[in-house]
Amino acid sequence: MSVRAIVLAAGKGTRMKSARPKVLHEICGRPMLWYVVASLRDAGINEIVVIANPEMHAHLEPFNVQTVIQEEQLGTGHAVQIALAALKHNTNGQILIAYGDMPLVDAMTYKSVLDPICHPEEHPQGASRRTALALITARMPLPSNFGRVIRRNGDGVERIVEVRDASVNELAVDEMNAGIYAYQENDLREAVAKLRNDNAQCEYYLTDTIAHLVDSGKYVAPVTAEDHRAVLGINDRVELAIARKQMNERLCAKYMLDGVTIIDPATTYLEPELQIGRDTVIYPNTSISRLSEIGEGSTIGPNTRLSNARIGDRSVIRESVITDCTLGNDVAVGPFAHLRGGAALADDVKIGNFVEIKGSKLAKGVKASHLSYLGDAEIGEESNIGAGTITCNYDGKKKNRTTIGKNVFIGSNSSLVAPITIGDNALTGAGSVVTKDVPPGERVAGNPAKPLPKK
Ligand code: UD1
Ligand code: MG
Repeated sequence: MSVRAIVLAAGKGTRMKSARPKVLHEICGRPMLWYVVASLRDAGINEIVVIANPEMHAHLEPFNVQTVIQEEQLGTGHAVQIALAALKHNTNGQILIAYGDMPLVDAMTYKSVLDPICHPEEHPQGASRRTALALITARMPLPSNFGRVIRRNGDGVERIVEVRDASVNELAVDEMNAGIYAYQENDLREAVAKLRNDNAQCEYYLTDTIAHLVDSGKYVAPVTAEDHRAVLGINDRVELAIARKQMNERLCAKYMLDGVTIIDPATTYLEPELQIGRDTVIYPNTSISRLSEIGEGSTIGPNTRLSNARIGDRSVIRESVITDCTLGNDVAVGPFAHLRGGAALADDVKIGNFVEIKGSKLAKGVKASHLSYLGDAEIGEESNIGAGTITCNYDGKKKNRTTIGKNVFIGSNSSLVAPITIGDNALTGAGSVVTKDVPPGERVAGNPAKPLPKK
């Protein structure tokens, strides 16, 4: 079997009213087109051609697919003509056609439409005539904007009529064309050559290939999807929101079945390709994005945002925002902390409320429990950062580093004016403004901070 896929993604997407091409609009952190390509690959199809418009071209590199540009969008049939012109003719081949605006379609659906084409002997209705095409249909509530499937009396599909070209009787048909097709390549090439644009939208409709195939004595097999919601195409931002909700439900279900407790899937916003360990619990109003990884038995949320965060086992993150950071095991963060810019927290670190940490490295057991800014700092094991401590890392021109040793005690409301180094076991008194390096074991206080008498 030699199946290739063509994904139509060049449409103007006028109903989105957007500067961004429709299929690049995101649901759950990925462009719609990403899901289509992923499901096709899951269905075992490796050769995928995406039909794109000129503006999209620059954005398609990450998809790792062959792209063909459709300069002018003259309809779905025209897009397929262009794709076929770019593909070498394989007389024994099959071609699956999908639309890039259908991110909810899964690999099983793509496999089910290929079945009557690749294994016609198992599909008796078509046995008397050659099955040239199989397509997914679904029953859906009316009114609807989808193309309607007109059947021949109990004998396959006769034609598809677009809403704008449909009669009143045709609009009453509740079987819709999902927009997923598997063709014998020879039949497809023959039928698209016959397309004309004499319809309400003056477009070349791919859906007109059905009538052409039936007219030349071939069989078109309907494959009915169980739930129309699983094959919905997205044409405007209302449908985008509906699809996002559905995809999020699916993603939550997947992570839950892998052993993650999600208290309220409706307010937990997840993405594909996250790693979340068993027995981690996610509380409401939490989003986890950008390939974040969380270990086992951790607690995340409520009201938390993790983006490109790596978090170890048994850590607790409450009501906080963490972006581009790495946290170890048994770390506690929040409520109301903000960690960003490559901060790295080792095991057993405790970060409390209203603490911001940027680009800093905190060793095992460091505590900063209240109201601090730690930027461009390196802090040694078991040091305690008192309430209100600020690393003054910016001198108006550039950022400077603060280095704090092990077992250091930084008194409340200390200002550490960087660049500065505070040695192991040193201490700063409450309210110190520290402008000079403090040697190991030294105790300083005041503004500017001076050594205290030795005890
Ligand atoms: C299409 C079907 C309709 C079906 C529905 C399912 C046709 C004529 N109609 O209608 O029967 O019920 O999908 O979702 O096919 N595209 C191009 N180049 C073009 C035009 C479109 O690449 O010149 C792409 C679009 O980017 C989109 C896809 O083809 O991804 C479908 O186009 P769209 O305009 O959304 O068609 P529908 O009106 O939804
Ligand atoms: Mg559409």
